[in-house]
Amino acid sequence: MRFFALTLPGLGPLLRDELTGQFGADAVGDVEHDGRSDVVPFSAGPVEPVETALTEDVFVELGTGDPSAPLRRLVAHLWSAERYDQALPASAPRLGRLGPRPGFRVVARVRSERGFLRTDLRDELTRAVLRERPRWRPADPAPVELWALQTRARRVRLGLRLSDARMRQRAGREVERPGALRPVLAAAMLRLAGPTRAPVLDPCCGSGTIVREALAGGRRAIGADLAVDALAAARANLPAGTALVRADAAALPVASRAVGAVVTNPPFGRQHAQAADPARWLRAAFAEFRRVAEPGGPIVLLHPRSPAFESAVVRPHQALLRSRHHVELLGLRTTIWVFRA
Ligand SMILES: C[S@@+](CC[C@H](N)C(=O)[O-])C[C@H]1O[C@@H](n2cnc3c(N)ncnc32)[C@H](O)[C@@H]1O
Repeated sequence: MRFFALTLPGLGPLLRDELTGQFGADAVGDVEHDGRSDVVPFSAGPVEPVETALTEDVFVELGTGDPSAPLRRLVAHLWSAERYDQALPASAPRLGRLGPRPGFRVVARVRSERGFLRTDLRDELTRAVLRERPRWRPADPAPVELWALQTRARRVRLGLRLSDARMRQRAGREVERPGALRPVLAAAMLRLAGPTRAPVLDPCCGSGTIVREALAGGRRAIGADLAVDALAAARANLPAGTALVRADAAALPVASRAVGAVVTNPPFGRQHAQAADPARWLRAAFAEFRRVAEPGGPIVLLHPRSPAFESAVVRPHQALLRSRHHVELLGLRTTIWVFRA
């Protein structure tokens, strides 16, 4: 059965690797993009669970079509009640037993509106569904979500959504602080750090997203932050007993070479307690990260390119820089930087 998974723009290649690890290289297609998300198609058994930390949404595919075709022909390639019925075993865990008149909703994303409008595609699909399933009723929110995504110039994919907001937000986060990371981004940073035996340290842990993802992935992890309210949020979001300390990341109460990796998104812009001279603080903090990490241990930072970051971290440590990965977050470009201590 065909599926596709969505993640943040820029994380597609990492998601592709993760899915390849689960389903094998032959089962996973190239990364596509629908204008809002990276999209990775893959094949799996109908009831095989998709265990990925990098996916924000997952769909069972109902059809694909060429958007340069007339709209009705495109829609005939995307939707058929027969293919929907065949996909039901995959969707059973989320949809459960639907009543006789389930609500449904069509979401359409197109990269260009030259041939037809996004709303034309949505409305034509809605009509096609109602022709074959006259008892269904359009609704929002709705248990049945059909997403039509233009992922290439000549390709639209229609999928039945298997996930809901819980996959994106990870159930159980009690407190959202402004600036909290999207969990998939935290998971991507940890994946780039690679396996570690000693604990992972997030010295600017905020509400604890990175620590939480590290623990969920079976690692040991420690969080630190300067702000009392950040530590309170982290404490609410993390299992009781998780190591959390109040400290300035530029002066950590941690022994030298004691952590397997430093994985963090340091403050930038107005988040800085040291806004007056961010470059000076970044220089001191990076020196601290190198001190506490074991030799050769990864230091993975999420930080947008900025003059302060370039002058304090990137230029002086070019020899330690292993890779950089651009990610788009709510339309803003940022970067994951992978250094080795
Ligand atoms: C971008 S936020 C981190 C968000 C976090 N990853 C999350 O998911 O909630 C940056 C954090 O750095 C903290 N911070 C600011 N100055 C700091 C300093 N000098 N030392 C340690 N943490 C600091 C802020 O309190 C804030 O929680």
